[in-house]
Amino acid sequence: MIRITSHWKRVEYRLRMTENFSGAAQVSGLSGEADVRAPESPVIEVRDLEKTYRTARGALTLFQHLDFRVERGELVAIVGQSGAGKSTLLHILGALDAPSAGTVYCASINVATLSPRQAATFRNREIGYVWQFHYLLPEFTAEENVAMPLLAAGQPRREALTVAANWLREVGLEERRDHRPGELSGGEQQRVALARALVNRPRLLLADEPTGDLDAGTANQVFALLQRIHGDYGLTSVMVTHNTELAARCTRVMRLEGGRLTSASG
Ligand SMILES: Nc1ncnc2c1ncn2[C@@H]1O[C@H](COP(=O)(O)OP(=O)(O)OP(=O)(O)O)[C@@H](O)[C@H]1O
Ligand SMILES: [Mg+2]
Repeated sequence: MIRITSHWKRVEYRLRMTENFSGAAQVSGLSGEADVRAPESPVIEVRDLEKTYRTARGALTLFQHLDFRVERGELVAIVGQSGAGKSTLLHILGALDAPSAGTVYCASINVATLSPRQAATFRNREIGYVWQFHYLLPEFTAEENVAMPLLAAGQPRREALTVAANWLREVGLEERRDHRPGELSGGEQQRVALARALVNRPRLLLADEPTGDLDAGTANQVFALLQRIHGDYGLTSVMVTHNTELAARCTRVMRLEGGRLTSASG
């Protein structure tokens, strides 16, 4: 408990450093820490990662001995057959699921060392998620949906709505701000979901088949938007997709197959 508490102090310290970060020198005081690393290290570093489910019918090992890094600014596609474990891997990267073995540094933090409450704060501050289904709240407007992560982080409502409106402009939906999700097209819903994922200015964007529910033309538009925002805001992004054309437009493609991750050229 003491270890975790002191670890969380370091996490909070690093998060503050990230907010003000303008150079490695500022974080030199962290050198030697095992769990929190300087922000110039890879945004994701996975070592010897394994995920095994214990089921009534025995152990199901999805993957084992995975080692990879994602450097700052990369837009990485993860491809592979259905059931290969892509979503599970993304959940582990985003501190939504725990690995069975191995180490995951995400946004410079060893996510396995976070308590559930700390993991929730970490996710809210550092990671933006986009899923195949948008998960917008139907009773709230587009603007309110985008503002949700800010409200959850304790920002006053007026400020949160102003920031949300700016993000809706960024995704080209300013005129739809008062629409509820049911009054938006599928592509518009995903653009709102993208704005909501980014409203907290995360360093890492994790997207699980963000265009999987869309027709080819709309999928292209949503991906192009994601790609532009990725570049404009200096994000690091990992996108799971079955769409090989879109994967080829990412900076790197990794294939999850037979429990192993291999590099594939875009
Ligand atoms: N809680 C669980 N217990 C046991 N097995 C599970 C559990 N969750 C997922 N699985 C199994 O793990 C495998 C990988 O699931 P995952 O959702 O990561 O696949 P995926 O690569 O994202 O597939 P898709 O492309 O269809 O989305 C599946 O065979 C699934 O049945
Ligand atoms: Mg999946």
